[in-house]
Amino acid sequence: MTTQTILAQAVGLSKTFPVKGKKDAVLHAVSQVDLTICQGETLALVGESGCGKSTLGRLLLGLLEPTEGQVLFDGQDLAKLPPKDLRALRRQMQMVFQDTAAALNPRLDVEGILSEPLRIHDICPRDQWRERCGQLLDQVGLSRDLLDRYPHEISGGQRQRVVIARALALEPKLVVCDEPVSALDVSVQAQMLNLLADLQEKNHLTYLFVSHDLSVVRHIADRVCVMFLGRVCEVGPVKEIFQHPHHPYTRFLLDSVPRPDPTLRDREKTVLAGELPSPVDPPSGCRFRTRCPYAREICAREVPEMQSVGEGRVACHFPL
Ligand SMILES: Nc1ncnc2c1ncn2[C@@H]1O[C@H](COP(=O)(O)OP(=O)(O)OP(=O)(O)O)[C@@H](O)[C@H]1O
Ligand code: SF4
Ligand SMILES: [Mg+2]
Repeated sequence: MTTQTILAQAVGLSKTFPVKGKKDAVLHAVSQVDLTICQGETLALVGESGCGKSTLGRLLLGLLEPTEGQVLFDGQDLAKLPPKDLRALRRQMQMVFQDTAAALNPRLDVEGILSEPLRIHDICPRDQWRERCGQLLDQVGLSRDLLDRYPHEISGGQRQRVVIARALALEPKLVVCDEPVSALDVSVQAQMLNLLADLQEKNHLTYLFVSHDLSVVRHIADRVCVMFLGRVCEVGPVKEIFQHPHHPYTRFLLDSVPRPDPTLRDREKTVLAGELPSPVDPPSGCRFRTRCPYAREICAREVPEMQSVGEGRVACHFPL
C-alpha cells in the first residue's frame, strides 16, 4: 500500500511552551523533528505519555504554530500560505480524537454534528445535508436512524464512529488518529481498527496513528516513529522495529509489552534507570542518556544525529 510520494513533512520542527510562573523557562514539547509521511501509509507515532505525540500531530495539521521549523503538506509550506489557501488545505487534514465525549457537541444531534463541517466549508447545498450525513453514517457502518440522536443517547463505540464520519465529511487526505481506540473496550477496539483499515483503502487515506499501545501498532502500521522527550529516536518499517529495534529506548518499549508466553517474559529485559527527565530541563546530548543502560561520555556531549540503519533511521551514538 505504501508508495513513496511524500504527503506531509516536518523539517526541523520544534515547539516550546512557556512555563507558568517561571519567566525564562520553556517546556520542550517537540524538538528538531524531521519526519515524512508518505501517501497511503499508516505511520504510527509511539512513546510514553508527554513525549510530544499529540503536539507533533497538531503541528503537522497546522493547528499549532511551530516555534521553529516547517511543515510541508503536498509540498506547500503551511506558514507561507495565505489564510484562504491554508483553509482550503486544512480540509485535506483531519483529526480523530480519543475523547469522544469532549469531541462531540452535546447540544447537537448526529445530523447537526456531521453537517457542521459541510456548512463551515460550504461543501454542498443545505437540502442535501441530510442525505450526505446519511452517506457518512453508511461509510462508518452506522444506521441512518442515528441521525436524530444526541451523543449521550448512543454508545461509546457509536460515538467514535460518528467522530470518524465527521472527519471524513471533508474527504481528507491525511487523518491524524490520536489514540482513537484506547478508550474503547478490546472487542470494540478490533472492530474500530478494521473500520479504519477499510476506510483507508476505500478513501485512499493516509494515517498518522498516535498510540502508546504497541500491540495495536503492530497490527495497523506500515512504519513506526518512536519519540522520547520531544525527539524522534527511531523511524522504520513496522517489521524491522519489532524484530530488530536499533534504539535502546525502542527496545525498552518492546520489552515492556506483556508477552503471552510467560517463559519469555523476563528474558533479557532492558531495565531503565531513574525517573523520566523533565521536558523543561531535558538532559544535554541524547535526551535518553540518563535512563539508557548503554550511555557513554559522548552521549552527554553530543546530540545523536539521525543515521540510516537497516531499512530505517535511528538517532543513537551506539545503535543496537
Ligand atoms: N498547550 C500546552 N501548554 C503547555 N504545555 C503543553 C501544552 N500542550 C502540551 N504540553 C506539554 O508538552 C509535552 C508534550 O505533550 P503532548 O500532549 O504532546 O504529549 P503526548 O505524547 O501526546 O502525551 P499523551 O500520551 O499523554 O497524550 C508535555 O510535557 C505536555 O505537558
Ligand atoms: S545516544 Fe547514548 S544515551 Fe542515547 S540511546 Fe544511544 S547509547 Fe543511549
Ligand atoms: Mg497525546
